[in-house]
Amino acid sequence: MSVVALLAEHGSPLWLADVDRARERLAGFRAAWSAVWPDVEISYSYKTNRTTAFLRAFADDDAGAEVVCAAEYALARDIVGVDGARITVNGPAKPDALLARSAADGALVIADSAAELERLALAGVSRVGLRVGLPGPEGHPSRFGIAPAAVVAAGRRARDLGLTLEVLSVHLVSTDFTAALGDERSGTLAANVRVGWAKPPAVHAQAATILARLAAELGVPTIDLGGGLPAAPAVAEHAAAVGEVLLREGFGGRVLLEPGRALVADAVDLALTVVAVKTLADGTVCAVVDGGTDLLPGALWAWPQLEALAPRGRAGTVSSPTLVAGPLCLNIDVVAPAAPLGELAVGDVLIARAVGAYQQVQSTQFGDLRPGVVARDGGTWRIARRREELSDLIISDREEPSWSA
Ligand SMILES: Cc1ncc(COP(=O)(O)O)c(C=O)c1O
Repeated sequence: MSVVALLAEHGSPLWLADVDRARERLAGFRAAWSAVWPDVEISYSYKTNRTTAFLRAFADDDAGAEVVCAAEYALARDIVGVDGARITVNGPAKPDALLARSAADGALVIADSAAELERLALAGVSRVGLRVGLPGPEGHPSRFGIAPAAVVAAGRRARDLGLTLEVLSVHLVSTDFTAALGDERSGTLAANVRVGWAKPPAVHAQAATILARLAAELGVPTIDLGGGLPAAPAVAEHAAAVGEVLLREGFGGRVLLEPGRALVADAVDLALTVVAVKTLADGTVCAVVDGGTDLLPGALWAWPQLEALAPRGRAGTVSSPTLVAGPLCLNIDVVAPAAPLGELAVGDVLIARAVGAYQQVQSTQFGDLRPGVVARDGGTWRIARRREELSDLIISDREEPSWSA
């Protein structure tokens, strides 16, 4: 079914979620790691994209779930039916109710601080990990996890509390800070973020070395390298570099991985429709589309790749690049500053490519009602989430007469 036909049926904008491709990504990712290490466990990082079609496909294909809040835990356990023992609970702020559920289900809980271990013990959690807060490339400390020098003491404390210390974990986040987070002289935080992904294999290998040494010292069987990895086939280089150092370090345990974008980033496109074309005072050609940073908040950090579905462009002419702006009354609502799209007219369809990670989940109702999602599964497209309706906007509103307690 063509994108134009899908838009005609489900309206614009429209998320196009390719479940077949996501499955291929998972298979390729697993194959790359299994080629270099005998005991590999993969937990999909739910926060990256929570479209249930993806969650079910990954669970069917034997991935666990990495979750960071009670809602994601409930999605994994109650909706998708992931076994509690295959759930990894992460994050810097875990409510008591989440810990209680994790304890009851035998989920693995990764402590973000030494103090949190006391809460885990009180909640009856038995399987725990420690997040090791490795510094960023410029040496600035991470705000996540336990400072590396304090990890061994935290591990001993975990054991004293009767907890089973199963995992040492890192996540080499994809945004790097060029100044310390707590340095107020450094200007705005956004000005100090360097967006770059993925990090080179050597960076992951170095993290694996540190974890392997700590694991040997504490007698921990599993190391968790988190996310931040590229999709297959590129990830094979990362796997090879990590496998090599783990062998060298004499590590003989399990490698846990929590891929997010490696599995879904290029499995989702967003179809947008041009609603206006105008020329600004300085001659810039501006196309206004029906979805912007309300749906693609990542455009505030990195421009998505845009394609016109049927580029026009007259033979022999070069049309000027187009400023593609979203529908919001905000200056920053720009999807691309100068996209080479050819001539555009009202009604043309643009595709924002590879926007599967951290976009849908962070999209807001600040703009219009949010779009539907169609999913390609087994080669055919089906509606996976309907377009929002007004009732979705007011469903929790207690002043609304239709709301019943
Ligand atoms: C702890 C943890 N693991 C895994 C991921 C997934 O990361 P990525 O999408 O870069 O693979 C994240 C993302 O923020 C995370 O915080």
